[in-house]
Amino acid sequence: MTNPVGIIGGTGLTRLPGLEITGRETIDTPWGSPSSELVYGELSGRKVVFLARHGDPHRIPPHQVNYRANLWALQKAGVQVLVGVNAVGGIHPAMGPAHIVIPDQLIDYTWGRPSTFFEGALDEVTHIDFTFPYARRVRQVLIDSAEQAGVDHSSRGVYGATQGPRLETAAEIVRLERDGCHLVGMTGMPEAGLAAELQMDYGCLALVVNRAAGKSDHIISMEEIEQAIEEGMSGAMDILARSVEPLSDLTRPGAQSG
Ligand code: HPA
Repeated sequence: MTNPVGIIGGTGLTRLPGLEITGRETIDTPWGSPSSELVYGELSGRKVVFLARHGDPHRIPPHQVNYRANLWALQKAGVQVLVGVNAVGGIHPAMGPAHIVIPDQLIDYTWGRPSTFFEGALDEVTHIDFTFPYARRVRQVLIDSAEQAGVDHSSRGVYGATQGPRLETAAEIVRLERDGCHLVGMTGMPEAGLAAELQMDYGCLALVVNRAAGKSDHIISMEEIEQAIEEGMSGAMDILARSVEPLSDLTRPGAQSG
């Protein structure tokens, strides 16, 4: 017996190509409504639950996503292992448009977002360990799949999570770079932290859709972003399709978490 693999689709992935849909469910949670209904189906012969982070149609901006409801709903659907797909800007020179990154670390610059389940009427104060924000074994599956698929990728990187919805200034990107960030996005947090609070094994598959502000000879346009999504999403999908089977195997009784 295995549990379904969760996939949270971001910008450019409102629907999951190749998913053989078997059902849909609107779930209510103590934290409110998730961004979209849960879509159940099979990908590569394994059970998957898909959620569109920005809603379907794409209409919820990064700072208004109900991350708590999304994670709660996925866990209620039996998800223990999940991948968040994120469109990002590349800060590191090697991370140009259509490049894939499987980050190993993050820095959280977001503010004012409900970012924990551990608040309100608590019996005790809880601080989870978050030294390694992305699950090692989920990252390894994504890296192996990227290698098998022959997709241009970086197997580590520091994700800087910014508030949005505006893009950054050039000076803000210089600061993020100085801090050690290699990529920048608006949706990596609090998603990863909430998954950790629920003890889910979470990995991030980041698709670079533009060079970050000040890192190219032009300002960032939506056309450029859309073109990179068009160019890079098929590689991301190839990685996901190859990852579902080994990820679902991680949920077998006796498979260690981490
Ligand atoms: N900055 C922040 N978030 C993003 C970017 C960016 O340049 N591109 C896509 N998401």
